Amino acid sequence: MKNFEWIPDYSVNVKLIDDQHKYFISLLNEAYGFVAEKRSSEDILNILGKIHDYAVLHFKTEEEYFDKFDFEGTAEHKAAHKGLLSQLDKLIAKKDSTDVYTFGAELLDFLEDWLVHHLDYMDKKYVKCFNDHGLY
Ligand SMILES: [Fe+2]
Ligand SMILES: [Fe+2]
Repeated sequence: MKNFEWIPDYSVNVKLIDDQHKYFISLLNEAYGFVAEKRSSEDILNILGKIHDYAVLHFKTEEEYFDKFDFEGTAEHKAAHKGLLSQLDKLIAKKDSTDVYTFGAELLDFLEDWLVHHLDYMDKKYVKCFNDHGLY
């Protein structure tokens, strides 16, 4: 079974945020498991909804710190979060044109690629700012 792992390279040196990233990855793995086990479409759509909602909550957490610390990359980073949510909405809108397992697998592959890239390319950029403000 697919197992996407959080590795120390992904760390942003802030425990709360690392924990959120780990939880997000665990939700993706759980959802991959649901797809592999061909769970009911209700279960699959439920967990995808949970992933969507957790992404919203996680982005909110990061963005509150951007505002609080007046992070210089705020606009660019918020735009990346917004872009992901609108891509997700577009993908979700297509869910009825394919079977739920193909839809789920594609959505999860997309999210995994997005997350790895975002962790590495965007989230790393706020580490210094957050740490400089005493957030670890
Ligand atoms: Fe993040
Ligand atoms: Fe982010």
